[in-house]
Amino acid sequence: MRRVSVIDVQKLRDRRERFAMLTAYDYPTARLADDAEIPILLVGDSLGNVVLGYDSTVPVTVEDMIHHGRAVVRGAKRAHVVVDMPFGSFQGGWVDAMRNAVRIMKETGCGSVKLEGGVRVAETVHKLVEAGIPVMGHVGLTPQSVNAFGGHKIQGKTPREAVRVIADARALEEAGAYAIVLETVPTALAHMITQRLGIPTIGIGAGPFCSGQVQVVHDLLGLFEDFRPQHARRFLEGAELYRGAFTAYREAVGAGEFPGAKESFFMDKRALKLIERMIESSDDPDDAEQVLWEAGAEVSAEHAGE
Ligand code: KIV
Repeated sequence: MRRVSVIDVQKLRDRRERFAMLTAYDYPTARLADDAEIPILLVGDSLGNVVLGYDSTVPVTVEDMIHHGRAVVRGAKRAHVVVDMPFGSFQGGWVDAMRNAVRIMKETGCGSVKLEGGVRVAETVHKLVEAGIPVMGHVGLTPQSVNAFGGHKIQGKTPREAVRVIADARALEEAGAYAIVLETVPTALAHMITQRLGIPTIGIGAGPFCSGQVQVVHDLLGLFEDFRPQHARRFLEGAELYRGAFTAYREAVGAGEFPGAKESFFMDKRALKLIERMIESSDDPDDAEQVLWEAGAEVSAEHAGE
């Protein structure tokens, strides 16, 4: 099975085939998303919120991204895997970014990296792309800058802000990014950018006219209840299902109904009898061990003669 490449992503855009990207942070999710033919999996630094329980993506480290990135690459055989560059891994300039991006690529086996920012990271993007590292850009609401934005606010609503988002997207395309995430921007602005760029746009809270869409898997599955973004749609009430299953498990254990025969392991009746006899014949644990050992040998011999 051939993995989806950045060239394939461009082809999807050129054929005007809308595609879905989904975040994944672990092996089983990656496997299931692959089974569902999701072409791109993003190991997003949103794992800081939805997996690690931080209140922003700022604390996430390169080590966190590598740890989760490796699991996703092991799980997905077909999807293109993009790994986010976390806060602090590229802000120091392109040399810093190069070292971290090379580590992420080598240690996870992912197909590309994603980093937040537009004009201000264009040189970095250019250097990475020149070095053979495919880069996905990310403009509009960039969660790593949440402290600067003063919260998760829609970006590009005023003409001045819209011009900035457009300039950011253009700068990334010129720098060689193969796709750009547009996050929490007005639909009309995302549409305008999508029409003007030659590379795919991938929207999250950016309306239906982007080349593709991305969602955080915990939002999609209804597993994250701390915060419900307006742009997210629950395709499953996962939290309800989890809670139901956990309660049923607790009750089954309490009622002595779990584990049942199907979940238990049985031993040869003759062996059991022998062991009981041996244990009864000695109170000394050392002796018991010795007799158990001998009993085991006797039973094995019996089995060998069967
Ligand atoms: O980290 C993430 O999950 C992301 C998406 C919101 C695009 O960057």
